[in-house]
Amino acid sequence: MKKSVGFKKKIDTAVFISGKGSNLKNLIKFSLQKKTPIKIQYVISNNKKAAGLRYPKKYNIDYKVYNFLNKSKAEIQILKDLKKKKIKLICLAGFMKLLSKNFIRKFRYRILNIHPSLLPKYKGLNTHKRVLKNNEKFSGCTVHFVNSKLDSGKIIIQKKVKIKKNENHKALEKKILKQEHILYKKALMKIFSP
Ligand code: GRF
Repeated sequence: MKKSVGFKKKIDTAVFISGKGSNLKNLIKFSLQKKTPIKIQYVISNNKKAAGLRYPKKYNIDYKVYNFLNKSKAEIQILKDLKKKKIKLICLAGFMKLLSKNFIRKFRYRILNIHPSLLPKYKGLNTHKRVLKNNEKFSGCTVHFVNSKLDSGKIIIQKKVKIKKNENHKALEKKILKQEHILYKKALMKIFSP
């Protein structure tokens, strides 16, 4: 008889956002499927106006906004709350703050990020504009582990896309974002599939 593949114990996961939250929405939907390694238990934002906060509200997931004006204070509180909630994995999804070395050490190889370029190329902000300015033929997106340097941790998976002639940065952003939604799920399956 064929052994069925499943996830006995789902990984309690927190997602960190700052903005629109389309990746968050996609991860929530994924976590509600049968064959998924994660259970999203908590959503964190540094921005109380983040549009993505509508998703934890809609799906009845616990969420909290932390004030990063004092970053170390915010991180101490976040670590406390994550411990209380027994969070084992963090998915950054458009989270615009750099986490400290100390924070990352506490979640070594348990923080993932998605970035809209083929890392190690085009780390940081305004990726699509820079890619187009350099007349690149291809771009894409990357899911990677987070280390203390910006967009520099070990790469888990990438998706390459072809750039059309005369494509503008908005169109490229839209095209890559669609691929990000597929890639984040694939990355989680790649790491956690039994
Ligand atoms: C995505 O392009 C992600 O790769 C980058 O920020 C954007 C967030 O989009 N880090 P959203 O908030 O998930 O819609």
